[in-house]
Order: sequence, then C-alpha cells, then structure tokens
Amino acid sequence: MHTIFELQQLIEEAIKKVEYPAHPSKLYEPISYIMRLGGKRIRPVLLLLSSEFFNNDATKAIEAALAIETFHNFTLIHDDIMDNAPLRRGQDTVHIKWGVNNAILSGDVMMVEANKHLTNLDSGVLKNALHCFNTTAQGVCEGQQLDMEFEQRNDVSIVEYVNMIRLKTAVLVGGAMKLGAIVGGASEEDANHLYDFGENFGIAFQLQDDILDVYGDPVKFGKQVGGDIISNKQTFLLLKLKELAQGDDLALLEAQYPNTDYPAKIESITKLYNSYKIRELAVTEMKRSLEIAFTALEKVSIEAVKKNELIALAESLLDREH
Ligand code: IPE
Ligand code: IPE
Ligand code: MG
Ligand code: MG
Ligand code: MG
Repeated sequence: MHTIFELQQLIEEAIKKVEYPAHPSKLYEPISYIMRLGGKRIRPVLLLLSSEFFNNDATKAIEAALAIETFHNFTLIHDDIMDNAPLRRGQDTVHIKWGVNNAILSGDVMMVEANKHLTNLDSGVLKNALHCFNTTAQGVCEGQQLDMEFEQRNDVSIVEYVNMIRLKTAVLVGGAMKLGAIVGGASEEDANHLYDFGENFGIAFQLQDDILDVYGDPVKFGKQVGGDIISNKQTFLLLKLKELAQGDDLALLEAQYPNTDYPAKIESITKLYNSYKIRELAVTEMKRSLEIAFTALEKVSIEAVKKNELIALAESLLDREH
C-alpha cells in the first residue's frame, strides 16, 4: 500500500497532466486555475486509499479520483457564487476573477470533464461507478439547496442542519470512498461500510469547517473568516447559540442578523459564541460523528493494520487549520 503522502503526490501529478482545450480561453482558464490553486485533495486521497484496501494498484482508481476532485472543485466555484465569497485557497474566487456568468459555465464544463474521467474506468465497474457518482452529485445539489433555503429561515433544527451538511458535504466524502472501493473490487457490504465511514467523517469535517469559518486564522484558512456570520448561515454554532442564549443575549443576537456593518456583526456574534462556549460544544459534536465513523470502519473486512493510516488521517483532518 502507498502512504497518504504518496497518494497525495499521485493525485497531484495526475491533476498536472490533465489538459483542457485552449479555446474559448475564458471557459477553460478558470478550470486550470481552480484545479491548480492547491487544496487538501482529501476526497481523491480517500478514494485511492479505499481502493487500495482491496487492490494494491491504486493507479487503476486514478481516473475516479480525478472525477471526484474535478466535481468537488466545480461545486466550490458554484458555492462561492452562492455564498458571495471573495476568497478561495487564499486567492480570488473564480467569479471575482472572471465574472459570474463565466464561473457558472466553467463549473458546468467541469461536471462534463468529471464524467469524461469516469468513462475511462474499466467497463466491468463502470455502471456501478456511474450510479455511485450520480447519486452523490445529486445529494450535493440537494444539500446546497437546503443550505440556501435555511439562510432565509429562523426555525431550522439541529436535526435539519445535520441532514443538510450530510447532503452538501458528507455524501461526497462517503461517495468518494465508496467509488474507490467499487473500483478496487470490494464487496457491496464493504463498499457500504466505507461509505458510512466517509459520510460520518464528512459530517465531522463540515462541523470543523463551520468552526474555522469563525475561529480560523485568515491567512491559513484561505477563505473569508466570518463569511458564515455575515450571511446568517444556519451553522451548528448559530443553532446552538440560539438554543442556549437567554434574554438580552438573544435580543442582541437577533438584532445582528440585518446588521450590514460586517466587522461589528462578526465581533458581536463571536463574543456570544465565546460566552456560551459554543466552539467546545461543536467540537464535542464533531467527535461524536467521528466515533460513529470509526464504528463503521471496524465492520470493513480488511486487516486492522490497513485501517490505521485512515484513522490517523481522519484525526489529523479534524485538527486542521484550513
Ligand atoms: C471545502 O472543502 C468545502 C467543504 C466541504 C467544507 P475542502 O476543505 O476539502 O477544500 P479544499 O479542496 O481542501 O480547498
Ligand atoms: C461546503 O459548504 C459545501 C460545498 C461546497 C458543496 P461551505 O459553503 O461551508 O464551503 P466553503 O466554506 O465555502 O468551502
Ligand atoms: Mg461556501
Ligand atoms: Mg456554501
Ligand atoms: Mg464553510
């Protein structure tokens, strides 16, 4: 088996080699731009690792890994339009650099490019792989729709929130792992256990993203800190605060929703988070999801030692700063 580091190198090399057409340049430049901006590459690495659990030759899964990373980057371009985000991986977002219409269309082509990668898979796994990919992609759209609808609501429950992040983020992590397992020749049972690992880990991963959106170091995070507060995102932090805040604090919070003095809004809501220890509660919730993920991993019928790299990777990702 390769190490995580080697798998990261494998995917980086593969991304570098992908060529997009030269014209129209404004359609394709944003694709190279976002794909080469960096990023942790966790979905393709998890995919390759899952594949190697069942088949030592991860190179067989590289086209699936490229499909997943291309799809992920496409969702980021469209997500940044929807979230009105100025920064991604420390650089201008695609819609800031090329305009919204270009960002929409380049994203659309990326979905096509992702499908083209998938069609390079062995015909024996193609049907299953396509089914897994399509189910995943549809889930992400459903989650993004709910995320936007929730911005306009003031009665979102934590159960609804967890379902929303499951769809917008976790199904892609689970789907990537299942896809890797399928390509590696896993049994359906093992592929589903890895999906369950990925989905629960993905929920924890999004909780950490929500924490970093408030508490991240702006340089390391690479995205606008406080973006979720500005747009009244219904994150775990906000929902928990609403549940716990009393009297004046609740009134103070509600008065901040329409505030367009963003630095003041961020400061005052962060203060409330601090006084109710919301960050600690979010970390507890994150660890709970991680434990569920580890329970699913125990059920995968491979030697325990093979799982250790995955366990270490999952733990390190929940300690990340970007
Ligand atoms: C960002 O994903 C979107 C979320 C689901 C939080 P990543 O944090 O994996 O972003 P990159 O690819 O490493 O930049
Ligand atoms: C991540 O949600 C979900 C998708 C990108 C599909 P966020 O909106 O929190 O992701 P970031 O923080 O912009 O990366
Ligand atoms: Mg966003
Ligand atoms: Mg978003
Ligand atoms: Mg976020």
